[in-house]
Amino acid sequence: VMMNLLGAVLLVAALVSCVANALTKSDFPAHFLFGASTSAYQVEGAAKEDGRKPSIWDTFAHAGNGGLYKGDGDIACDQYHKYKDDVKLMAKMGLDAYRFSISWSRLFSDGKGPINPEGLEYYNNLINELVSQGIQPHVTMYHWDLPQALEDEYGGWVSRKIIKDFTAYADVCFKEFGDRVKHWTTVNEGNVCSIGGYSEGLLPPQRCSSSSKVNCSKGNSSTEPYLVTHHMLLAHASAAKLYRTKYKAKQTGFIGFNLLVFGFVPLTNTSQDIIAAQRARDFYIGWFLNPFIFGEYPDSMKKNAGSRLPYFTTRESNLVKGSIDFLGINFYYAFSVKNNPKSLQKKDRDYTADMAVEAKLYTGNDTTTDEVPVIPWILEGLLQSLKNDYGNFPIYIHENGQQTRRNSSLDDWSRVKSMHEYIGSLQNMLRNGLNIKGYFVWSFLDVFELLGGYEASYGLYYIDLKDPTLRRQPKLSSVWYSNFLNNKTMDS
Ligand code: NOJ
Repeated sequence: VMMNLLGAVLLVAALVSCVANALTKSDFPAHFLFGASTSAYQVEGAAKEDGRKPSIWDTFAHAGNGGLYKGDGDIACDQYHKYKDDVKLMAKMGLDAYRFSISWSRLFSDGKGPINPEGLEYYNNLINELVSQGIQPHVTMYHWDLPQALEDEYGGWVSRKIIKDFTAYADVCFKEFGDRVKHWTTVNEGNVCSIGGYSEGLLPPQRCSSSSKVNCSKGNSSTEPYLVTHHMLLAHASAAKLYRTKYKAKQTGFIGFNLLVFGFVPLTNTSQDIIAAQRARDFYIGWFLNPFIFGEYPDSMKKNAGSRLPYFTTRESNLVKGSIDFLGINFYYAFSVKNNPKSLQKKDRDYTADMAVEAKLYTGNDTTTDEVPVIPWILEGLLQSLKNDYGNFPIYIHENGQQTRRNSSLDDWSRVKSMHEYIGSLQNMLRNGLNIKGYFVWSFLDVFELLGGYEASYGLYYIDLKDPTLRRQPKLSSVWYSNFLNNKTMDS
């Protein structure tokens, strides 16, 4: 049953006394950022307006995405037209930062060539609005919406040609927006992009290899995910080099990359399972982090994928090594991991088989099937292990959040509980020496969800899709976050 706004607000008093303790933003270091996240295709709408042309995500959604869920981002939250009101809400809530992405095919309709002036104007307006409200724009350049024209021309990320086009696109972003944008993320969840889009067939451009569980006819390659990651690393490194040589001195910003990270818990205490969990971490995280920090892929990947894993030339290795100023991580789930050497004997080996593990979603104790388990101690364990193995480089938690069904109550206690526990644990993580710079909730609004369309929701605000005004309705979580950010407790 839908709670009305008044009801939700009244409930806050009870809520604050139950779960909010006295924790507020003022308990954190002064420069620690709190924000919320979205991405272009998931919020903007206006998909065919003002010169924007389709991306691979439009194509994927319109083709029915293999029947995974319904809907598309044609209208989404209509942030394209409502950005001013949205920024007002953010300011009122007290966000330090808003993480959003630029739609490449809005800025360059065909992915390259002349700039689309209306696209340029939109992002200038959005950024100006944020800055005028004292909200830092944290910008992702690629959140899986490759201009369809580049996919059609040369297969997008599977081709090395992408490196040049991505760098040219990044150049324009830096040039046009870099006076106000100080935090750039080249790619969102690079690992999910490669695995979901080129092995599992779950994401655009819906290509798959032998272990894909969806009915997917495009691609049957065991090398594509490796190739795509290789090109992403090189495209990122090329954009980072450009930023550092051409813009950094004047613009003084930072450039990072984003990964979906999981906790990997060995199923048993045997050394096989412990090594298997380490190998799973290598395949999901080290795949990118080893090149960024050490200039080459993890040994376990070289061993298991053999010649199907591309290699870096000395020049490439030097370019990629050291090319991130920070790592953005998105954290939701953990896996319990068991060694599975048999999968290496499969004839048509692909990314999944190469990993040689059996991984099961770790569900924790008290969660329903829809919900994301609240496991901050696993996040801390993961971050401590990354610190030990790779050094204490800066980290932004770019996404973390709770999933509910879209039309459930505005009284979203499970989301409040999750935020409260994660934000509380962050204090310990900082005290224990982790170099975390900021925390962003996914998502600011109920958006067009990646794996659940309009059925799943992560937002602090609900939008009734039947309401033509698409009014943003605050959930309890937005009131909790706002109280936290504005340093309101029961005693103040
Ligand atoms: C990952 C992605 O970055 C975002 O697009 C997605 O909607 C959320 N996490 C939730 O799954």
